[in-house]
Amino acid sequence: MPVSVEPTTAPSTPAEVLRPHAEDAFGAELAALAVQDDRPRPARWRLSPWAVATYLLGGALPDGTVITPKYVGPRRVVEVAVSTLATDRALLLLGVPGTAKTWVSEHLAAAVSGDSTLLVQGTAGTPEEAIRYGWNYAQLLARGPSREALVPSPVMRAMAEGMTARVEELTRIPADVQDTLITVLSEKTLPIPELGQEVQAVGGFNLIATANDRDRGVNELSSALRRRFNTVVLPLPESAEAEVEIVTRRVDQIGRSLDLPPVPVGVDEIRRVVTVFRELRDGLTSDGRTKVKSPSGTLSTAEAISVVTGGLALSAHFGDGVLRPGDVAAGVLGAVVRDPATDRVVWQEYLETVVREREGWQDFYRACREISA
Ligand SMILES: Nc1ncnc2c1ncn2[C@@H]1O[C@H](COP(=O)(O)OP(=O)(O)OP(=O)(O)O)[C@@H](O)[C@H]1O
Ligand SMILES: [Mg+2]
Repeated sequence: MPVSVEPTTAPSTPAEVLRPHAEDAFGAELAALAVQDDRPRPARWRLSPWAVATYLLGGALPDGTVITPKYVGPRRVVEVAVSTLATDRALLLLGVPGTAKTWVSEHLAAAVSGDSTLLVQGTAGTPEEAIRYGWNYAQLLARGPSREALVPSPVMRAMAEGMTARVEELTRIPADVQDTLITVLSEKTLPIPELGQEVQAVGGFNLIATANDRDRGVNELSSALRRRFNTVVLPLPESAEAEVEIVTRRVDQIGRSLDLPPVPVGVDEIRRVVTVFRELRDGLTSDGRTKVKSPSGTLSTAEAISVVTGGLALSAHFGDGVLRPGDVAAGVLGAVVRDPATDRVVWQEYLETVVREREGWQDFYRACREISA
């Protein structure tokens, strides 16, 4: 029997979509910014560079509209990223896992072009067609090569329409396929030899790529391609406070979309998860006194967000709706112990030397002991 991929019941409201695109989720903020933004906008930009930065970093508009911060981090990083997009160089967001590269790329595309969906996902198997164009084979066989038979890639569409294209995980793409981007970025044109035609990029076109620091060496970026990019490194959150704020904000957003109870303000559990992750990542306790061993996993902000969201679901469905140490302990253990042989030892040692001794952490220590036993 053929398998139908058509949804049996289409989502009737955008609210039913599990994860709306940035331009939909924050449509009201973008619209308010567009109305009040009187600074010059580059060709085909929905907003001025200043308004794009405000959208990302948050702020208040003259009429009192509050723009929520999407990215928590150095203002300069965002300013450099936004102004790069207004030049003829493309933007490469680089950083360790979980530093919001994908997140920033999506929000930048949403704010600049009003569309974050012109996306190429980079993998070891990404073919050239994903960056250039492919063919609709039925049409190709029936009528030969024609514009109708051509299936444009997201990059080609962005060039033709003056929009922002996104390439995720650029360094996972094989080098020869990566090089397809060189002509696109330097000549701003995409030849279609089969038709004797080309697509020339119009004003407003640019490209945002993301790449993971840890993948370096998988497929090194060629120096020819690197020159076409302005690289912006997204740092890890500089302080525990900043990281707690990021986690609280994102968990609240994700939780709302999953109908989970709201995160109570000032809840200890988020601070504990963030502290544990930071100390293990840094190899040093927050007071700077005790060295600890680092486990093999990355323990990024993104993972802290998952652990707390998971804890919230546990407390909502199997607890009393209040986030308690027992709800996050399993998640913390799962994130820290990736390699059962080595990481378990690291975790036990941290638990016994740091967590056990810490004032006010006894309930958390007991919950971790119970789960690690
Ligand atoms: N500085 C930050 N400001 C706001 N949100 C952040 C920040 N750092 C991490 N996050 C959150 O972390 C989550 C994961 O981020 P994202 O997936 O963009 O990371 P990434 O850098 O693309 O990771 P990877 O290298 O694994 O692809 C997002 O939900 C994002 O909101
Ligand atoms: Mg990513």
